[in-house]
Amino acid sequence: MPATVVVGTQWGDEGKGKLTDLLARDMDMVVRYQGGHNAGHTVVVGDDTFALQLVPSGILYEHIVPVIGNGVVVDPVVLIEELDTLEAKGVDTSRMALSGNAHLVMPYHQEIDRVTERYLGKNSLGTTKRGIGPAYADKAARVGLRVQDLLDPKIFRQKLDVVLKEKNALLAKVYNRLPLDADDICDLYLGKLADRVSAMVVDAVALVHEALDRGDHVLLEGAQATFLDLDHGTYPFVTSSNPVAGGACTGSGVGPRDIGEVIGIAKAYVTRVGSGPFPTECHDEVGDILVERGHEYGTNTGRRRRCGWFDAVMARQAVRLNSLTEVALTKLDVLDTFASLKVCVAYQAGSERYVHPPYHQSVLHQVTPVYEELPGWQEDLSGATELSDLPPAARDYVAFLAEQIGVPIRLVGVGPGRDQFVRFAA
Ligand code: GDP
Ligand code: IMO
Ligand code: MG
Repeated sequence: MPATVVVGTQWGDEGKGKLTDLLARDMDMVVRYQGGHNAGHTVVVGDDTFALQLVPSGILYEHIVPVIGNGVVVDPVVLIEELDTLEAKGVDTSRMALSGNAHLVMPYHQEIDRVTERYLGKNSLGTTKRGIGPAYADKAARVGLRVQDLLDPKIFRQKLDVVLKEKNALLAKVYNRLPLDADDICDLYLGKLADRVSAMVVDAVALVHEALDRGDHVLLEGAQATFLDLDHGTYPFVTSSNPVAGGACTGSGVGPRDIGEVIGIAKAYVTRVGSGPFPTECHDEVGDILVERGHEYGTNTGRRRRCGWFDAVMARQAVRLNSLTEVALTKLDVLDTFASLKVCVAYQAGSERYVHPPYHQSVLHQVTPVYEELPGWQEDLSGATELSDLPPAARDYVAFLAEQIGVPIRLVGVGPGRDQFVRFAA
């Protein structure tokens, strides 16, 4: 049974948590394949809201084996806190499995993330300051510590001593910060914390392949999104991993032939947190309405998200980059009050028209969106459960997006709740 991928098609926060939770009803395993606690995936169950950072969004179901794959960077302190919070809410976290090959986010990563952002000043990226970029940088530089190093305190200490020397020189000499102490880091990461983490450590590649061989349904859950991808996003205003579907392979140890469906998730409009180009961004009251009606504030960082109209140019590119088989559209209800809606169908730069994003970022910064205007429905969609509950204008809007994107839209979100969605076939 090939695995299914869930991937964000915009700049994050499309509703991956909600969709993963929804699909997990029919899955056996959910694997997070990249990112770290820069992610915030929300699942709303009745009056309870779960904001998941590292833990796969399928954890709320007892039949799901939740796995953190090798492609994730893990802050063990955050992971344990997150599991404790879930346990306190009555969620059984005992099935949690963690790849021994996942890299650790270390205290100096967070410190370096914070100081480099400050150092960059007005050129800062607007990172989540969680140490994610520095952790992936160390992974690539081959000086990272991995989850499996927690199982061997001697090795952990040896590796730490080597890397900390360089980090402290950087912190003290370049950034004028106090050096970090290796004993303090060992006190924090080893001992009790390491015991708890160790209990979850598995050979995740074997675990996933055994599940696939059994015919189990495996869902690979992405964090961040296509245009925050290190290779394909709006570099340098990106994250430091590969959220695209290809990253699901490297981040979980599954080859491309073991992937079946690739479900892209898109909001019915677009949001972005942090810096970087955003062609359809609305700086007027439309942006304010989207922020307020969509509660567009970061799940973990609380930052106000930038908002704009749906961008079919980006969505088409996301189809290419991820081999999307379908799209799930969220937050259609947020558009309920508009008399008319704009959809960006192309970009214009001088005499050039683009139906896919220009590869050169300088051009992307200059493009003007070409909009088509569609009538709004001005009706409350939040109670809709079937296609026939959607007013014709809402159906037409979704059908128009599907036609523009070029892949079917099969699920449409009409509210944050677990059951607030409509099955579509546009
Ligand atoms: P993720 O990072 O992709 O998992 O998305 P986030 O959880 O950061 O942000 C999505 C937000 O939208 C969360 O607060 C969800 O509860 C909410 N949400 C998801 N789907 C819908 C929807 O269809 N309608 C509304 N109104 N809210 C939704
Ligand atoms: P989920 O999984 C939205 C953004 C940051 C910043 C850039 C780099 O909830 O969709 P980083 O801390 O990763 O080095 O920051 O990426 N960013 C996100 N934006 N949703 C996320 O995750 C994000 N994770 C990182 O705001 O612009
Ligand atoms: Mg989020």
